[in-house]
Amino acid sequence: MAVHTLRKPWAVPLVVLGLIVFIGIVITFDYIVLLFDPATDNAIDFEVPSFDKATGKYSTSNPQLIPKILHQTWKNETVPEQWKTAQASCLDLHPDFEYKLWTDASSRDFIEQEYPWFLETFDSYPFPIMRADAIRYFVLNHFGGIYIDLDEGCVSRLDPLLTYPAWVRKADPTGISNSVMGSTPHHPFFMRVMLELKNYDFQWGVPYITVMYATGPLFLSVIWKQFKRWAVTDSEQLWILMPAEPGASYFNDLHGSSWHEDDAKWIKYLGLHWLFFTIIGFMIAAVFGFTSYLVMRRIYYPRVAMKYKYLGQE
Ligand SMILES: *[C@@H]1O[C@H](CO)[C@@H](O)[C@H](O)[C@H]1NC(C)=O
Repeated sequence: MAVHTLRKPWAVPLVVLGLIVFIGIVITFDYIVLLFDPATDNAIDFEVPSFDKATGKYSTSNPQLIPKILHQTWKNETVPEQWKTAQASCLDLHPDFEYKLWTDASSRDFIEQEYPWFLETFDSYPFPIMRADAIRYFVLNHFGGIYIDLDEGCVSRLDPLLTYPAWVRKADPTGISNSVMGSTPHHPFFMRVMLELKNYDFQWGVPYITVMYATGPLFLSVIWKQFKRWAVTDSEQLWILMPAEPGASYFNDLHGSSWHEDDAKWIKYLGLHWLFFTIIGFMIAAVFGFTSYLVMRRIYYPRVAMKYKYLGQE
């Protein structure tokens, strides 16, 4: 390092400060872009499938891509009374779909059999909801189909949703939700999600934040933002089911057990307090910068400092 650079007392703290700000932006970039999440380009419109009386089958204008499988999760085989109506509404509308209810036990067996590299992470999750989050990404990747939260009732046949290679539902007011999702097997988005789970397995001290960031909708939204930057072809796009219009919806949200309902609100809170956090950030940076300046001055101008000391003693 050139000596004359070091002699400028502000040079080193400035470079360090610049690096900290840069790294900070890189780390939080995907969370920041979520705050400015516009209505999405790949929106799915509501469509009523047509029913052919002759064949007794429903059809859509586009070919079916996603296999007719419904996935749901519960801790065991006993679905509680309050969710039975919702569960039945989906089953009754789709008698031609295969149905898989993933329990704690069958989920673990599945991971152990098919994705043993993930079993340790899966077992180490501190909250059962995290396993319930993870298993839905794995089964969608493995079998394809549509995952539906147990507190979501079905209002309409889902056939039109089978014509998109992969889709998730928009969360209000920002990001995407993991409450209802559909995919073809081995779609690049859910492959990515599955592989990234390990990288995001971090405990934040506060349970809610851990769940949200490690496996829940915030995690999914961040991977979605990253994926949007990589995805190239149409078949790789992730499609977004927008909030339902009255009378034009596939699902009927009973808002029951959903642990994740507040996630989007929390992101929104951060958004609303954006200015506040920015100002705090700049204040911390200013204090840091000024302190480093003092330290550097001390180091690189010892003579000056000593002279002051000397004069002070006089
Ligand atoms: C499932 O769990 C509930 C409560 O935890 C229990 O009452 C019920 O017997 C369990 N069902 C089965 C099939 O083990």
